[in-house]
Amino acid sequence: MNRIFLILLSLVSAPVVSARDIQSFINDQLRAYPEMRLIDIYKSCFQDYMGAEHMVTDRKAVEEYLDEEIGTSNVADMQPWYYEPCGIKGRYVRVSIRAIKENLISKEVLFDAFMRSANAVKLPSVKSWKRNWKKIVRTIDKMEIGLPNYEEDRQLIDSILSEGKYAISHSQEYKDAYHPHYRIIERTIFENELRPMIEKSKTENIMKEINYREMKFNPFNLLGREWMLLSAGNEQDGCNTMTISWGHMGSLWGNNDPTVVVYIRPSRYTKTFVDREEYFTLCVMDESFKSQMAYLGSVSGRDEDKITKAGLTRVFADNSIYFAEAKMVIICRKMYASELQESGFMSQETIARNYPEKDFHTMYVGKIEKILARDGEYLRK
Ligand SMILES: Cc1cc2nc3c(=O)[nH]c(=O)nc-3n(C[C@H](O)[C@H](O)[C@H](O)COP(=O)(O)O)c2cc1C
Repeated sequence: MNRIFLILLSLVSAPVVSARDIQSFINDQLRAYPEMRLIDIYKSCFQDYMGAEHMVTDRKAVEEYLDEEIGTSNVADMQPWYYEPCGIKGRYVRVSIRAIKENLISKEVLFDAFMRSANAVKLPSVKSWKRNWKKIVRTIDKMEIGLPNYEEDRQLIDSILSEGKYAISHSQEYKDAYHPHYRIIERTIFENELRPMIEKSKTENIMKEINYREMKFNPFNLLGREWMLLSAGNEQDGCNTMTISWGHMGSLWGNNDPTVVVYIRPSRYTKTFVDREEYFTLCVMDESFKSQMAYLGSVSGRDEDKITKAGLTRVFADNSIYFAEAKMVIICRKMYASELQESGFMSQETIARNYPEKDFHTMYVGKIEKILARDGEYLRK
């Protein structure tokens, strides 16, 4: 009697995955990741079934590996999501390193949740996973979707499973197309701890419009010392950005309209975008972006995709382009542009010091149409 009860109980608690669930999962995956191969489907289903691929014992090594991945990965390459469920049942969730890079959660929070997720679980046997996988493969066969390298992947998976192993990496095609950088978190840990944190930070992180009359800041430090990113362009025809530290803020024309003045040398690639567009933006970045700003101020966008290389996320909005990572964005409508005239200089020394090649800056006056800020740093208390 007891045996029958135990068998019934194990049947009830065993993961029941219907062919229809499998089909709709595969279809959704193919829509989201058209480059995926069978091994990528395997990986997602496996993570759903078993979580992280193995127990984790060496905390230090795992932490170092996470640090390295945070340091070397690029937000611009990553998928836009912060988290997505694994496999068919979603018992585990992939939490993207993007959430750390965009300051939604700390590295420590993800690391700790990952360690607990990996170690709390008693791994099911390879035998039971094999049974599960067989059913998934049968359904995929019936779907006749023509996955690339299907037979090759199938054999690889079979040979790994026959050796009593089950872990597999994403295919190179998947890595190249989607740059997966995530950690697997058990669903209840994710739902109770990480999801609320990510969602809260997301709302707090959204930039709010602020009124220039209520601002406080030191314009000399903001431009001269902290620097800004001057950007222009649009999604269809492209955009560019460069670091600036020369400029002014104040009132001009209209009703003492809030305005900025920036100065761009003729050689800058960004100038072609500023000349072409009606709007340009100025982004104030956190101190931690100093090295990216030095790079954006020394290499030309003509020669490389420096925005992507600097790991910045383009936001095309408000008639222009700015960066999701900015602390403050000043959106300006171009009102006036004119090259500085040699005849206007009072002292030859200024020319000799700044323009030995007579490549005078063009001066642009922009009317400030909107200011977005992430927090109250620039507002009077
Ligand atoms: C701190 C700093 C401040 C800069 N300020 C200006 C500036 O005000 N005007 C300017 O024309 N160039 C300035 N530059 C130089 C440009 O940012 C640099 O030439 C950049 O590589 C141009 O990129 P682009 O060709 O992609 O437009 C500055 C560079 C740095 C590092």
